[in-house]
Amino acid sequence: MNVDGLAAVITGGGSGIGAECARVLAKEGAKIAVLDLNLEGAREVAAECGGVAIECDVTSSESAVKAVGEAKEANGIAQLLINCAGIATPGRIVNRNGPLPLEDYEAVIKVNLIGTFNMIRLIAADMQDADPMEDNERGLIINTASVAAYEGQIGQAAYSSSKGGIVALNIVAARELARSGIRVNTISPGLIDTPMMAGLPPEAHESLSKQPEFPKRLGTPEDYAKLVLNLCENVLINGEVIRLDGALRMAAR
Ligand code: NAI
Repeated sequence: MNVDGLAAVITGGGSGIGAECARVLAKEGAKIAVLDLNLEGAREVAAECGGVAIECDVTSSESAVKAVGEAKEANGIAQLLINCAGIATPGRIVNRNGPLPLEDYEAVIKVNLIGTFNMIRLIAADMQDADPMEDNERGLIINTASVAAYEGQIGQAAYSSSKGGIVALNIVAARELARSGIRVNTISPGLIDTPMMAGLPPEAHESLSKQPEFPKRLGTPEDYAKLVLNLCENVLINGEVIRLDGALRMAAR
């Protein structure tokens, strides 16, 4: 698909990976809607992109319905959805204080997995009515999983479960939406240098950056955004989960 003039919705677009996707897609001529719980962050990014900022809690049906409606009103039917909203709250299944509070587990599943599904269902419902492009393609949905879907580390029970759910959802969504000409792909990043990593002490940052096999550096939001453009360009990539990790395989801790 040619993204020039296309309406794009980016969740979690107020920071990190989502923000960079918004910038890069805007440069290519896409009409951007930045959806985020953090409206301030969304506003800053939208201002850079000439797009719209919309407050949205992806875990809420009501909030997402409203946000998708506002995005459509501003830019038309979205033909590109990038699901980047996510949280990575760690916690062992059992720690010194006892079992992980169930609400902590639920909170991560709600944002990462249910939030992704919530946006897919709402955006796809509109996308199927969009004008077909070359190959009768109507749109593309890109989800964000993680290498933690495969090699979750100690303390990542909730995060890994949520990302594994996204990986499993990918092919179902691609199969169901195929009849409307909608592709679904998922990117599973390794270590990407974003505000999510900013809380780490410098030694941990340094040590993590040596972990990928090659290249020996952290990934960047730009690396991710490049893959988004590749996925837009190549209509045959569908139902795929792509690791973006420099052959990183995380150890247990
Ligand atoms: P980030 O923390 O910079 O951005 C995440 C954004 O999601 C924030 O703007 C936040 O406000 C928003 N958000 C959180 N909860 C939300 C909700 N309920 N509704 C709407 N928005 C909400 O994080 P980053 O690094 O850009 O992460 C983006 C995605 O990439 C996440 O899904 C994350 O799990 C995934 N990822 C990140 C990796 C990394 O190393 N940074 C590695 C693998 C995956």
